[in-house]
Amino acid sequence: MNEFSFKLPAYAKINWFLRVLGVRDDGFHELCTMFQTVSLHDDLSFAEDAEIILTCDDARIPVDENNLIVRAALRLKKEFKIEMGARIHLEKNIPSPGGLGGGSADAAVTLIGLARLWNLKIDREKFCEIGASLGSDVPFFFYGGTALGAGRGTEITPVEDINEKFLLIVAPAVDVSTAEAFARLNAARLTNSGSKSILEICRNEAARQHSRQITPTNDFERVIFKIEPEIERVKHSLLETGAHSALMSGSGASVCGVFDNEETRQATIKALENESSWRRFAVATVSRGEYCEALKVVSD
Ligand code: C5P
Repeated sequence: MNEFSFKLPAYAKINWFLRVLGVRDDGFHELCTMFQTVSLHDDLSFAEDAEIILTCDDARIPVDENNLIVRAALRLKKEFKIEMGARIHLEKNIPSPGGLGGGSADAAVTLIGLARLWNLKIDREKFCEIGASLGSDVPFFFYGGTALGAGRGTEITPVEDINEKFLLIVAPAVDVSTAEAFARLNAARLTNSGSKSILEICRNEAARQHSRQITPTNDFERVIFKIEPEIERVKHSLLETGAHSALMSGSGASVCGVFDNEETRQATIKALENESSWRRFAVATVSRGEYCEALKVVSD
């Protein structure tokens, strides 16, 4: 580790709710979602080098241009006409793919880390523009905490942080393709009047989420549970063993359960002991302040 200049955490996200409003003219889907950073994280270490070189402690993770970290580094190099390269080491903890934004978080933290390594002054707007060109979930990771995501998911509005200390993320050994999940929704073409009223509903949903007044909804659950019943089994197991709510994150396969206290969370962890193929992560929310502090970026 000594040969690296610094190390930054790349926190995972969950979605408190996720509504898909329809298909846009560009083929992407219009979303309304509420993102949340949680304490599960990858770690990225950075050092100067002549080329862009990625290494990873998990042999299953690609270290070429199939990895968003490499794509983010090359994009930044090109955009700012940088001659230097960088060596990046990834310690991978976030299940991939898992609907937890692991690849997107890594890409965002790569841009933040390389800007520091290469002494670039980049404002959040520019980070978000480059981030959005890499993936729809990336811009959120320049904010962290609790935030609404609209449009493709790239238009971020920070909202008051939700503070939940007793979360349990369960990731079954199932791979879900995000593009396929969207295609299976068979969403209608977007009409302006429809999208406006649904956005209004989403804002209300966000307000009620804060006061735990709603059963959260993820529109992907309807289609994904049909093709991957194991994910629905995870959700039901969480609810049956003590979670007061449980929701699939993004397009899956991870499900996040919310518990009232450590005792009920521990009871669930114990009850799921025999599910050897389910990875479990006891986590807490990470507020925007904590997130910005960990990444040493300025929050507003
Ligand atoms: O932007 P990202 O690379 O994460 O998107 C992966 C795929 O998910 C896209 O190619 C697209 O098929 C689908 N998608 C979508 N609408 C969004 C985000 C993603 O249809 N808002």
